[in-house]
Amino acid sequence: RTVYVNGEFLPEDRAMVSVFDRGFLMADGVYEVVSVLDGKLLDFEGHLVRLKRSLAELSMDNPLPDADYLTVFRALVRENGIVDGLIYLQVTRGNPGDRDFAYPPAGTKPTLVMFTQSKPGLAEAPAARTGWRIISIEDQRWARRDIKTVQLLFPSMAKMEAKARGVDDAWMVEDGLVTEGTSNNAYIVKNGTIVTRALSNDILHGITRAAVLRYAAEAQMRVEERSFSIDEAQSADEAFVTSASAFVMPVVEIDGQAVGSGQVGPVARRLREIYLEESR
Ligand code: PDD
Repeated sequence: RTVYVNGEFLPEDRAMVSVFDRGFLMADGVYEVVSVLDGKLLDFEGHLVRLKRSLAELSMDNPLPDADYLTVFRALVRENGIVDGLIYLQVTRGNPGDRDFAYPPAGTKPTLVMFTQSKPGLAEAPAARTGWRIISIEDQRWARRDIKTVQLLFPSMAKMEAKARGVDDAWMVEDGLVTEGTSNNAYIVKNGTIVTRALSNDILHGITRAAVLRYAAEAQMRVEERSFSIDEAQSADEAFVTSASAFVMPVVEIDGQAVGSGQVGPVARRLREIYLEESR
């Protein structure tokens, strides 16, 4: 695989960053994941806007002009022959030359890494036909989940807990209300109304969420942006999640209890179809 690191395209075994990099020592970095379907980037613009917001919230320099991100993405897709897959992008506060809690002096060059992951048939994931089973878990992340930082240990722990219990993912719960999935936004559907938590610092402002809510409104579906509990989700007609890598993924079981019929519901199925049609 050819990867991009600080202005160079290199074979992955020759791409390096410093042991003093603040991404490595302090999790001082932000990232984005963008899907590629049939060689085409999905929602590139939205991901770039969010990347710049994450950088600004952490007073981190933006290493590239906007147009160059697109150029590098396209070069990586071409070089690696990606038809369906993902592009991962990470910016860290760079290498100050030693470990220190204080940020390095202005002008320290950020580290920029991008690589591809090939996922043939990404849009035809068999799980989309059967749906995910999930568990709930107390949300123990920090309070700025709107910033897409590489500090992903708690979501990893939650994912491992889900795997240990034989299910697909976990929804995180704070003060009795669902925040989001380990790496996706969470929704329920009741009597035709789509319910999802409102945007705040408590959740990541999903790019797929924005697109799906726009398509739902265009299709005259009712949307309520408010929080909901696991109890309410278990007695909903449907549930689903959205993300750049899962698109719209139905959820059919929560903490061992079937949601609705326990089958993929019509709203989640329809939204997945619309999202994939509109993105391709
Ligand atoms: N995760 N919430 C969290 C905590 C996330 O990590 C993600 C994305 C989302 C969905 O955002 P978007 O629709 O912009 O992908 C919500 C990516 C896919 C990841 O970490 O791999």
